[in-house]
Amino acid sequence: MSDQELANAIRLDIAGELEAIYLYDAHAEATDNLLAKKVLRDIRDEEKQHMGELLTLLIALDPKEKELFEHGEGEVKEMMEELEKACKKR
Ligand SMILES: [Fe+2]
Repeated sequence: MSDQELANAIRLDIAGELEAIYLYDAHAEATDNLLAKKVLRDIRDEEKQHMGELLTLLIALDPKEKELFEHGEGEVKEMMEELEKACKKR
């Protein structure tokens, strides 16, 4: 498997982590069982760590990805600044 093929596989792995985060969170919120809530939220947060690990691996395998992430981050930060300025004017 080439690094590019592995990067594509890692993208699927990240999708799996995101789905798991959503499901553990939904199940934790749906139950009144305090122990289950605690365990499910703990697992959910571990999945978030896995996502961070996979994103870091993806960036290492495909450096162009980092450039695109940073571009997207910059766009959102610009929007945040615009909103902040608009709120201050009110
Ligand atoms: Fe995971």
